[in-house]
Parts: sequence; structure tokens; C-alpha cells
Amino acid sequence: MTTKPYTVDELISAKAIAARVEALAKEISSHYADTDKLVVVGLLRGSFIFIADLVRELDLPVEVDFMEASSYGNSTESSREVRILKDLRGEIAGRDVLVVEDIVDTGYTLKHVLEILETRHPRRMEVCALLNKPSRRETDVTARWVGFDIPDKFVVGYGIDYAQRNRNLPHIAAVRFTG
Ligand code: IMP
Ligand code: MG
Repeated sequence: MTTKPYTVDELISAKAIAARVEALAKEISSHYADTDKLVVVGLLRGSFIFIADLVRELDLPVEVDFMEASSYGNSTESSREVRILKDLRGEIAGRDVLVVEDIVDTGYTLKHVLEILETRHPRRMEVCALLNKPSRRETDVTARWVGFDIPDKFVVGYGIDYAQRNRNLPHIAAVRFTG
């Protein structure tokens, strides 16, 4: 994919992310203290680094599974139509499920994924999102746990991409077009 020339400006440092992930993991661990075995569902690909760090801080027995959903259309605007590209391997009926998302923007992706998962009758389902853009929301979905509320900027890093680039940045940065 071709992109306009751009540079990235650090928005959230690796240190700040690590501290926030640790705090989230403490809250999540105490919330699920009585749960038999939590199923942590990572939404690919953007959540892969977040989920890896988060589960290592959880003081709980967990299973990890993945799902990939994709919006149609171009890379910066949600088309409000969502496809499942990769489904879970495991069953979630009667289980406690924690869906882990990188960013909640309009909310269409998450809403669609939650609707699909609800038809499988999990016992309880909650969402943990690393980033939230409240000003962009077009649906009524909310994440129970949010790492950071951010302004309406296109961000990359810590697993999150722009046209498949910059996922390997250790921090979160805002994309700034230069050309
Ligand atoms: P939504 O359906 O509009 O909520 O879009 C959510 C998905 O769009 C996220 O899971 C990301 O994959 C992608 N997305 C939204 N904002 C950004 C961004 O700032 N950078 C990279 N991807 C984003
Ligand atoms: Mg995504």
C-alpha cells in the first residue's frame, strides 16, 4: 500500500504504557478473582503486543484465544461494515470472556464482534481496550477497562499500524503527514 510521506510524534511513552498495563492487570485480576478460567480474546492484529504484556501481569489462570475482524475500505476510515477473517479456536459458552482491543474508534468493530460472541452464550463478557477515542464514537459500545483516552489522532506503535507499518515501535505515536 502506498502512503503519503509522514513522520511520527511520541504520544505515550513505553514507560507510561507499562505502568498503565500493570495497573489495568491489577484491576482485572481482582475483578476475576473468583473466576474459574478466564478466556482472554485478543483482536488481531493490533492487540498482539498489548495482550502479551497484559496476560503476563494477570494473577489468574487464563486461556488465550484470537479473532481477527476487518473493516472494509481504506485504512484510516471505518466503513461501518465488519468481516470476521479469523475465528476463535475454542468454545466460550458458559465462560468468562475478556475481549482485548487495541483502539475503540467509532466502535463498529467492537460492536460487531461482541454481537457475534454473544450468540455463543458466554457467561459474562467484558472489554479491555488499550486506547479509546471518545470523540469519534458512533455506537453505544463501551470498554469496561481503558488504558488511555486519546484525542482524535491517527496513532501507531505498540502493535498498532498505519498501512501495516510501525507496529514495532515500543511507544505510541501520532502520525503527522509531511508531504
Ligand atoms: P472502529 O470500528 O471505528 O472502532 O475501529 C476500530 C479499529 O480501527 C481498531 O481496532 C484499529 O484496528 C483501527 N483504528 C482505529 N483508530 C486507529 C488509529 O488511530 N491507528 C490505527 N488503527 C486505528
Ligand atoms: Mg483492529
